[in-house]
Amino acid sequence: MKQKRDLLSLVEFSPEEIRAILTRAKEFKRSRLHKERKIFSNKTGVLIFEKPSLRTRITFETAIHELGGHAITLTSDMVGIGKRESAEDVARNLERWVHLIVARTYSHSTVEQLAEYSSIPVINALTDTFHPCQALAFAMTLDEYYGGKKKKKIVFIGDSNNVCNSIMVLCAKLGLDFTVACPPGYEPAPQVLNMAAAIAVKSGAHLAVSHDPAGALAGATALYTDVWTSMGQEKESEKRAKDFAAFQVNKKLMALAPADAVVSHCLPAHRGEEITSDVLDSERSIAFDEAENRLHVQKAVIDLLFS
Ligand code: CP
Repeated sequence: MKQKRDLLSLVEFSPEEIRAILTRAKEFKRSRLHKERKIFSNKTGVLIFEKPSLRTRITFETAIHELGGHAITLTSDMVGIGKRESAEDVARNLERWVHLIVARTYSHSTVEQLAEYSSIPVINALTDTFHPCQALAFAMTLDEYYGGKKKKKIVFIGDSNNVCNSIMVLCAKLGLDFTVACPPGYEPAPQVLNMAAAIAVKSGAHLAVSHDPAGALAGATALYTDVWTSMGQEKESEKRAKDFAAFQVNKKLMALAPADAVVSHCLPAHRGEEITSDVLDSERSIAFDEAENRLHVQKAVIDLLFS
């Protein structure tokens, strides 16, 4: 019997598999609603959300529907992982009824447990540590803009959060240079940085941490930013607003980047905080293309897990 696969952090996918996902995603985008491959026909995927979502919920529900399947979305008050029932028991029930689990949880260990205790694929739809689907959508969007350009440098400006971690792992896998520019005290967790650095040794990617957003922009292909206060950190928002004030992606900062550098954001954005509206809505912004590409890239992930 074929071993089931999960997408928990991107670390489990080889560079070749990541490139194959991006290629398939472009095919899905081109053929949307015309000759969709019904690779999820008569199958059911359950989506569990411990945190709010617009993009992830809609794109996974739509992806599953367009691939011929059926999606059931549950919120944390309905499931209560770790409160009403253990992750292990949730996993051992779900595997009896459905074919795929897509889970957005606070703790990364919750998606790891769902994967460990179920015989069906589990996709991480964002945890406190990783957001792999977002990183894949970013890679696809970057390819659309810079397909032929071999050497790319990504600069993440702001908090070393789950999206930053996943983009760093993606860059390490694909051999793209990556710098995170963050205030002192907000660097990536050492275990994530060390893991990405170990992957980068193989691909030749150069990874760096900087506290100087302007200096980090030299040679940048793309800037990326995200909210300064992630879901679950709301009590820190006042302190973070002060600590990150010099890390806003605005017109002044964009003027210091190479003229052809694009900018993205995983959305939702706090306009006027981590990014200004004139940048997010500018011609250099690929954030809404990236949001669209969540749909196509997640179809490609499902394709890989079920083929
Ligand atoms: N970027 C993202 O994951 O959006 P949602 O939180 O709306 O799903």
